[in-house]
Formats: sequence, structure tokens, C-alpha cells
Amino acid sequence: MNKITKVFKGSVFHSKKFGELQFLENVLIEVNEKGIIEEVIENDSLIYEEKIKFAKENCEFIELKDGEYFLPGFVDLHVHAPQWPQAGIALDEPLNVWLDECTFPLEEKYKDIKFAREVYTDLVKQFLARGTTTVMYFATVHNEASLELAKICAKLGQRGLVGKVVMDDKIMNPEFYRDNSTEEAINNTEKFILDVKELGKDVIQGVYPVITPRFVPSCTDEALEGLGKLAKKYNSYVQSHCSECQWEHDFVQERFGKRDTEVLEEFGLLGSKSVMAHCNFLNEADGEIFIKTGTAIGHCPISNSYFANAVLPVKKLKKQGVNIGLGTDISGGFSPSLYENIRHAVISSRILEDGVDSEKERFERGVSNSRISVVEAFYLATKGGGESLSLPLGIIEKGYICDLQVIDTKAKNNVLPDFGVFPKKEHLLQKILYLSTIDNVKKVYVQGNLVHSKGE
Ligand code: GUN
Ligand code: FE
Repeated sequence: MNKITKVFKGSVFHSKKFGELQFLENVLIEVNEKGIIEEVIENDSLIYEEKIKFAKENCEFIELKDGEYFLPGFVDLHVHAPQWPQAGIALDEPLNVWLDECTFPLEEKYKDIKFAREVYTDLVKQFLARGTTTVMYFATVHNEASLELAKICAKLGQRGLVGKVVMDDKIMNPEFYRDNSTEEAINNTEKFILDVKELGKDVIQGVYPVITPRFVPSCTDEALEGLGKLAKKYNSYVQSHCSECQWEHDFVQERFGKRDTEVLEEFGLLGSKSVMAHCNFLNEADGEIFIKTGTAIGHCPISNSYFANAVLPVKKLKKQGVNIGLGTDISGGFSPSLYENIRHAVISSRILEDGVDSEKERFERGVSNSRISVVEAFYLATKGGGESLSLPLGIIEKGYICDLQVIDTKAKNNVLPDFGVFPKKEHLLQKILYLSTIDNVKKVYVQGNLVHSKGE
């Protein structure tokens, strides 16, 4: 057994199974020097008092106050870090105009490492302050700035999975912002993988390289093939956008005579360490390919309401067996908060179920059995994210990584009162998920280490 160095005492909310909520009252969470949970001791255990005494004398002992609760740290599966300055901007434009006129000129600026450092440092802090402890990032085409993002995650204590973006097609991408050649795109990706692996050796919470073809339309066949080979060679994470919107889905169909999912699979880009953002136009056969290969969906509900032309059928895909987690998609989604994305995942699923055109007959308006509950959305933001990344994240249990957020329901600027009317614990979690703001996230721990403290 590894040495226990920290013990947390307090009540926990987590979801071990999609749709199931567990509340653990005033448990002890024993954490070893590697930041892994050694044991969770319930308050009716015979050794409970003895363990508290031992912890107070031998370990760092962290005890929650009245009105405070532990939640697992959130996992954000889809973020464009360089787009942080663009959050909330130009969302009235369609995706292609938004990309061409705003996003690409912005991403080009990250050739300037100072600018990259300033933006990325702020963004990682913003995520930690909202309880997001693990993030899968798209950076830009630039190796130096992309590596800088991985270094900033390492330094600030966030678990970062970072990709240097590949966009090499000379027709589809502007001259001012793309890889210089296919060969360079592949070589730079390999160099990036090696650099991040080297960096990750000394990072307790882990930083990981991610092979990142922006999306099929922006890459040549040769680049997609080369990246697929690298994924195999390094058993690396892969991320991209898949069947995000009508335009993208149709474009791939026209170029290859195949569906986006089939094309990505044939190039070797789908595997147990692959996360595909959006996936709104997946059919059942695509879902089977995701299951067979172990690929997960990064569901970005806010972004989808702007750019996707559809709502992801989360309930149907989960029932089929596909792994799904949540993503903010900064800045297709305007908010860096997974709390806001949990809310929007619920709301958009209900709109999908009910339908929107009141002139249609009631049962012809929507897609029945589509709604998800807020507890199901909570699962996506936590355990669902961990499953998608094949990492032991998202619940507070023996063997899992100790990533925690401390929620203060009595926070000065945003008290979450129920005036004693709703004693059920599930109601309390519902209130936390729907009403919490940055003010309620009091402390955040990654791999057992404090990485954010409110007001500090
Ligand atoms: N497809 C290709 N690039 C992007 C991007 O930056 N954001 C979104 N939402 N979709 C994309
Ligand atoms: Fe995206």
C-alpha cells in the first residue's frame, strides 16, 4: 500500500452509472502521495474515529465546513484554447464565416509566443476556477505555442491533453494560416508528440499529446493517413470534429462517397483514445463504429445550438452504448463553464424531445425519449469524461484519481438556499448544478493537490 498523505473529510456527490446519483455523507477520502484515492471510509465504519485521529496526527487533514460539498472535478473534452479571446463574439454568423473571418485570423496570432502565454495562462486559470480539472485542447498549427499550452497546464496543475492542429489542405485553408506542407504537418505532429511526452514525465497530474486533424475538410488524404499511422505508432490520443453540422457532414460524403465516421475509421483515426467533437449527424451504423473502435463523443451542447443544425441524440447514443462526455467547445460555445453546459445539455435534449414547431401535431414535433436528466448530464461532465479518455476520473472511489471541487452553498455572493423546504439530497445536487456560479467553487484539487482557492 502507498503512503497516505492527505485525508479529506466531507460529503460527496457523484454518479457511478448514467442516471444514478450517490450521496456519501461525511466520508473520509484517503489519498496517497501519487494523488490516488486509497480508500473512502463511510461514517458508520468501526474504524472511522480512529482513522480521523490518525489522519490529524500523520497527514494533511482537510475538513469541509457546513454547507460545503465535494464534487468530482469536471472533464472538458473539447476546447479550442486559442479561441478564448473570441468567446461570445460573432456567434450570429454561420460556422464557415465565423471560422474564416474571425477564428483563423485569431489563431494565426499564436505564432507570437508571448501572446499565446498570456491567453493560455488566463484560460487554464478560468477553467480551474470553474471546477474543470481535465481538459482536451486543440491549440493551433504552431508547435512552440502548442507546447507552451502543455507547459502552462503542467505548471498550473491542470491535466491537459493538448494537440497541435493539422490543417494542410491548400484549397480549404487560407494561405496566412495553415501548415506549410503535408510533410511538415506530419513531422511537426511527431515532434510535438515527443516533446509533450518528455514534458509529461515530471508532471504528476499528467499532460498528454493529442493527434489533431482539425476536421476532414481541412486535411488532405495524405495528412489523414500519416496522422493515422502516428496514432498507431505512439498509441496516442486523437481528436477531431466529426459530423458536426450539415455542411461538414455533406462535404465529407461528397469528397469520399462515405460518411465522416467511415472516413475517419479508414484513416486509422478512431480508437479507444479518440474523442470526436459534436457528432450530431451520426446514424446507428456510425454509433456501432464508435463502439467497436472505443471512440467517444465530446458533446458540446451550447456550441451545437449555434453551429450544428441539430441536437445530439444523447439518450439514444448512450442506450446504444457509445461513450459520451461534455465539452465547452470554446469558442463555438461561449461559456468556459461545464455547469452551463450541463444545463444546456438538459435543455436542448428536452427541446429535441418536445420539438419546436407548434403548428405541427403534438407527437410529430419532436423525437420521443430524448430528454436527459440533470443527473445524467452530471455523469457526462464527470465519469463520462473519464471513460471517454480511458482515465480513472470522475468519481470519488478507491483507485480513482483524486480530482475534487469543493462547492460552497453558502458562498457570500451566491447563496443557494432551500429554506429547509427540500431535504432530499438529490434536490440539493440539482440546485448546485443549476444555480452554482464561479462564486460557489471554493477550492479545486487535481491529483490531490490544491490548484485553485477562491479569492487567492
Ligand atoms: N470545425 C472546424 N474547426 C472548427 C472550430 O474551430 N470550431 C467548431 N465548432 N467547428 C469547427
Ligand atoms: Fe470545436
